[in-house]
Amino acid sequence: GGERHPSIPLPRDLFAPERKNSEGVDLQDKDTLAGVASAIATSPLPLAGGAGGGKTPDPGAGSNALPTPNPSRKREGDLIGAAQSAYPAWTARPVHERADCLDRLSDLLETHRTELMAICVHEARKTIPDALAEVREAVDFCRYYADQARAHLVPIELPGPTGERNVLRHEGRGVWATIAPWNFPLAIFLGQTVAALVAGNAVIAKPAPQTPRIAARAVELAHEAGVPRDVLILAEGGPDVGAAIVADPRIAGVAFTGSTPTARKIARSLLDDESRPLVPLIAETGGVNAMIVDSTALPEQVVQDVVTSSFRSAGQRCSALRLLLLQEDVAEGMLEMLAGAMDTLIVGDPADPATDVGPVIDQAAYDKLMAHREKMRNSWIHTVSPLPLAGGAGGGKSPQPGADSNALPTPNPSRKREGNMFFVPPTAIRLRSMDDLSTEWFGPLLHVATWKAGELEETIARVNAKGFGLTMGLHSRIARSAETVEALARVGNLYVNRSMIGAIVGSQPFGGEGFSGTGPKAGGPHYLPRFCAERVTSTDT
Ligand code: NAD
Ligand code: ALA
Repeated sequence: GGERHPSIPLPRDLFAPERKNSEGVDLQDKDTLAGVASAIATSPLPLAGGAGGGKTPDPGAGSNALPTPNPSRKREGDLIGAAQSAYPAWTARPVHERADCLDRLSDLLETHRTELMAICVHEARKTIPDALAEVREAVDFCRYYADQARAHLVPIELPGPTGERNVLRHEGRGVWATIAPWNFPLAIFLGQTVAALVAGNAVIAKPAPQTPRIAARAVELAHEAGVPRDVLILAEGGPDVGAAIVADPRIAGVAFTGSTPTARKIARSLLDDESRPLVPLIAETGGVNAMIVDSTALPEQVVQDVVTSSFRSAGQRCSALRLLLLQEDVAEGMLEMLAGAMDTLIVGDPADPATDVGPVIDQAAYDKLMAHREKMRNSWIHTVSPLPLAGGAGGGKSPQPGADSNALPTPNPSRKREGNMFFVPPTAIRLRSMDDLSTEWFGPLLHVATWKAGELEETIARVNAKGFGLTMGLHSRIARSAETVEALARVGNLYVNRSMIGAIVGSQPFGGEGFSGTGPKAGGPHYLPRFCAERVTSTDT
């Protein structure tokens, strides 16, 4: 029972972008998408370090065909020492000057949007809509943090009831390390980096080893925008490089986005050395994100939001739906519709504008996901195979107009890769119990379980008991159910009657709790102060 939810949003297109991008390009317009794709295919892919243009590889040629990174861009020597030396002059600059650098950087990102998208598609295997969303989010982070810094990182006069003058100042802390994942290689890499910079810190920025090129280009553009070369230093490398940076006692804070086990290693390392000052760690990590669906939900909308939340970006978003919890009474009907919707997905070359689901990042991810999928083979509800790729060399093929989806090849797990692209077939897997899923499977694998009418509170408690707290979804037309979930769910971002991905900077500050992160939320009003030392001066007047 209960009253009806007042607003019933209309169903949207599958994978519709959350909104227009910052330049107003409408991603739903197929001509626009095709235009971007052809620009990507013909634009030179510049080598980092200003060493000139490389040619964009043939879309089918695989990541090995990318121009090799220019070794001259790598900085040698004592990078943290160099950043320390550059820090005093940077932190002494008025906050509006640092914010102006971020605004200039956002303009440069827009000017170079197509080139950045091309690198994203080729290096991170992002689809074209995802690559555009990536650049857009990076632009949004720069503009938002610039505005936030101007408004809030200023001296604040506090009450002086005993006659003193009390002033709170926000100041830089020193040299921050920012450590990024490969799945948002521009937006998150840059978001946490520009936040540290505008707060008055120098930064050693370490991208994921899978995505160095987009990070190098972002750092070049930041330098062009006016951030001094030694104030922002790129440190390429894998876990060893990250661990060495974090272990250096000169590091004054760490902003990390990645997996929960890595966050724990970093936290341990920061605390190990007893002679070291205590420094802040901001960690944004993974989730086992659930969506609860009751019998009052609109089935078409549920199915669309489930497909978007679990399969867009090949499921490689921390926010992605991992565990679909259907009320028992409606489960079978919903699953039938879900299978139908999954069949419309085009799994293929990310450089093809028609593609919905691209490959996963690399062989290691593929092997891990496919082993789990195989282990669960007897519990598959539905799966979708990738399109055959042209020439056998990894090139994707757009579907022929009017092509019958029955003509798609049947799933064949032994065909593990196409060229250098690793496709995991989007798969829905039935669980006997919702308690059977306790780890994050970072790819297009959706687990499904059921719950009984009248057990909403218990269901939320069982999800909370997993210990993660990133995103949760609810589909229900009962306002009281939405209130119950809001009151009981221990997650950072709750999405009601919509998809669970694509948080918008400034409107939907993003980040979790428990195993999912420390907060504060990226793209929110409380983020920047965490990068600052807060100092108060009390003067007798
Ligand atoms: P990862 O933890 O393997 O690596 C992340 C970064 O940490 C990389 O740059 C890596 O080189 C570095 N690193 C690894 N070991 C390190 C160590 N001991 N010390 C210092 N640095 C080290 O994660 P990933 O595979 O790159 O990214 C996927 C994960 O990121 C998923 O779990 C996903 O949920 C999470 N993620 C979370 C958010 C969020 O906002 N909560 C956003 C995106 C991704
Ligand atoms: N900000 C990303 C999303 O919401 C992680 O999907």
